[in-house]
Amino acid sequence: MGIWIDTDMGVDDLFAVLLALRHATVDGISLTFGNAPLPQVAANAAGAMAVFGWSTPISMGAERAVLGGLETAQRILGDSGMPTRGLSLPPVNAQFPPAVPALARWLKGQDDAQILALGPLTNLATLALAHPDLLDRIGRITWMGGAVGAGNHTASAEFNAYADPEALAILLARDVPITMVDLDICRQVQISEDDVTAATDPLLRDLLGGYLDIALSRGRPSMALYDPVAAAALLRPDLFDAAPVHLAVELCGQHTRGRTVTDRRGAEGQLAHILPGCDAKAVHALCMSVFTP
Ligand code: RIB
Ligand code: CA
Repeated sequence: MGIWIDTDMGVDDLFAVLLALRHATVDGISLTFGNAPLPQVAANAAGAMAVFGWSTPISMGAERAVLGGLETAQRILGDSGMPTRGLSLPPVNAQFPPAVPALARWLKGQDDAQILALGPLTNLATLALAHPDLLDRIGRITWMGGAVGAGNHTASAEFNAYADPEALAILLARDVPITMVDLDICRQVQISEDDVTAATDPLLRDLLGGYLDIALSRGRPSMALYDPVAAAALLRPDLFDAAPVHLAVELCGQHTRGRTVTDRRGAEGQLAHILPGCDAKAVHALCMSVFTP
């Protein structure tokens, strides 16, 4: 069972990748637009690789959604996607090979591939269209995305779903098993100033503080950990309750485009799952193991 991470390398993606690398062997990391345009995402990944000594091969994927759009989360995370209270990743010139061929080569050697998806699903949808013969090698995609309840990028839609809803629709249409680690379950795991204070690495402390400041600047005392919760769900599924659902995504609504629609009625046997509950204290402790090794 190999693990691959597809990420739009913003600040919470970095925390999630560090968590996964700390507790598992990761065979590859592919990059997509999302939190920031792809060149910035690649620079973030190259900087993290340099600072943390990553040996996992990194590849570069989609610059735009399957229909050509480019929606980013820079209005929330800033131009770099890496808000900080001081220290930042070093600027490193990023040169990475293409992602879809790398993913395809990896999948050819897998039979129960586990993919942790932390951004828009464009790379994985592109793979599905280019290499449909490889899809049965995917055991499951664990995806931070979607919203059973309210959205975050719009009132209806979570950012990763909103940035490329067609990509999700393509994967669902091809019966790729997806566990949707949605906003609601992620919101059960929050970080506060005490967690920032407890962080031992100065760079990670400043990045965690910059991430928390997103909430503090809006009058909230704590910030939901998004991508690290998805990583925790892959690493420790025993800490989560899972439920099969009928899962669809809205593509056409004027106000609801990108909304994920779930229905648990008569969903036994469905390949799509959500995580209605978790041991939030244990998940928080697992996520914090990145900051307090
Ligand atoms: O909605 C939260 C998600 O959007 C996270 O994955 C964050 O990194 C951004 O990609
Ligand atoms: Ca992300």
